[in-house]
Amino acid sequence: MRSRSFIPNLLSDERKLPAKEKWNKRYANFNLTERLNVTPFLGRWLPKLPQRGLALDIAAGGGRNSYALARRGLTVNAVDISCQGLHLLKRRTSPGWDIQPIALNLERGWLPKAQYQVIVNFFFLERAIWPILKSRLAPGGWLIIETFTVDQLQTKMARQKYIRRDFLLEKGELLEAFKFLKILYYDEGEHQKGFTAQLVGRAMNNE
Ligand SMILES: C[S@@+](CC[C@H](N)C(=O)[O-])C[C@H]1O[C@@H](n2cnc3c(N)ncnc32)[C@H](O)[C@@H]1O
Repeated sequence: MRSRSFIPNLLSDERKLPAKEKWNKRYANFNLTERLNVTPFLGRWLPKLPQRGLALDIAAGGGRNSYALARRGLTVNAVDISCQGLHLLKRRTSPGWDIQPIALNLERGWLPKAQYQVIVNFFFLERAIWPILKSRLAPGGWLIIETFTVDQLQTKMARQKYIRRDFLLEKGELLEAFKFLKILYYDEGEHQKGFTAQLVGRAMNNE
């Protein structure tokens, strides 16, 4: 059937593109009202977060989590490799929200040199930035992460679509990597988007 063969071809073509082109192409098709709602896990923790200070949204994409943090009162550095995504994010920013889009390839293992009260990282895995996250968190700063684990490989989505194993967390990997934080919440399992690990931690005040 025509529709069946069309989808795998599209995905396999997209797979050959470098990350920047692939995501630029995707965001070019987004409309102004698409994916505006905060991710449910961040939404749950939002009321506990500070209402002032600096936040970092890692791989911010179309900005759904940046908007939630800005609405809460935080100044947000939204970093992403896709200029198209950041352009969309900027166009959808409401007056009064303080969001600075920053185009950056996170594979290079670099993050803006600032101290953040909140860092969020949703549905993007780049281990190269993990060693510097500690130095970017202000004392008492919050780190909130959710991304897919290897259990996602067993799902229908993984069978339909090519998923790179190195873009998935191994079991217990996130908790081990951030054990220097005070862990407030950790869970691995099936959540709204699939099999993910969710972590909330805070930098110790003397770190
Ligand atoms: C699945 S989306 C998640 C977007 C956002 N965190 C969210 O949950 O809505 C992955 C994001 O990672 C970005 N990305 C992919 N490779 C990247 C890289 N090397 N450096 C920075 N951003 C990258 C993409 O442009 C895309 O916006």
